[in-house]
Amino acid sequence: MLRVSDLSVDYSGAVALSEASLEVNDGEVVGVIGNNGAGKTTLLKAISGTVARRGEIEMDNKVISGLPAHEIPAHGIGHVPEGRRLFPYLSVEDNLALGAYSQTQAHSDDFERVYALFPRLKERRRQQAGTLSGGEQQMAAIARALMLRPKLLMLDEPSLGLAPVIVDQIYNTIAQLGKSGFTILLAEQNVAECLEVSSRAYVLQTGSIIRSGPSQELQKSDAIRQAFLGI
Ligand SMILES: Nc1ncnc2c1ncn2[C@@H]1O[C@H](COP(=O)(O)OP(=O)(O)O)[C@@H](O)[C@H]1O
Ligand SMILES: [Mg+2]
Repeated sequence: MLRVSDLSVDYSGAVALSEASLEVNDGEVVGVIGNNGAGKTTLLKAISGTVARRGEIEMDNKVISGLPAHEIPAHGIGHVPEGRRLFPYLSVEDNLALGAYSQTQAHSDDFERVYALFPRLKERRRQQAGTLSGGEQQMAAIARALMLRPKLLMLDEPSLGLAPVIVDQIYNTIAQLGKSGFTILLAEQNVAECLEVSSRAYVLQTGSIIRSGPSQELQKSDAIRQAFLGI
């Protein structure tokens, strides 16, 4: 579905992503793990076209790396940014409607589909998004991205800043999305959770992909355990 080849990003001369190549196949949950500053957010932004990048990105065999950011969602890529980025003073429902901005109108069946996944958001649909709990905000951010029915959902550190019990809830949701056939690219510093929910993962370190493989193998690797899991 997604093929990224030799993708690089510099920020005023400093290399943030260096010739990264990866693939996500239909129906897979694929992780990108790495410490703070490794380049995870930069990688997802480069795919979404919100930072200048070199290299090639193909979605369903179409080259999209030359396109401006606003044309990327129409190719089936939904991006849930780091830190949720909801509109805090708008209601949950208005945030979801904005997620569907590139459709002429948000369809009521899209709301129903998304509320079926997140019943809690339906209960709170008239509440200002900024007054939701952290976990609910993360769900709203995921729901907003799903309004456009993306083929690929990219999640940037969904567990960031959340209490452990809420992290478990979010990860249950991600696992559920994965089981129901969603294709997901998941960037995380929370390596344990990410490897649990993904089938394959890439390891990003100072802008380079240094390793990749089945998540179960990475979970067993001594190098990964020492670098990320504190074991
Ligand atoms: N807008 C920016 N300007 C300059 N440097 C940046 C910018 N955004 C990120 N960086 C740098 O790029 C590197 C990768 O950052 P980032 O992609 O945010 O990593 P991660 O998401 O893995 O924490 C870091 O060294 C970071 O300081
Ligand atoms: Mg980040």
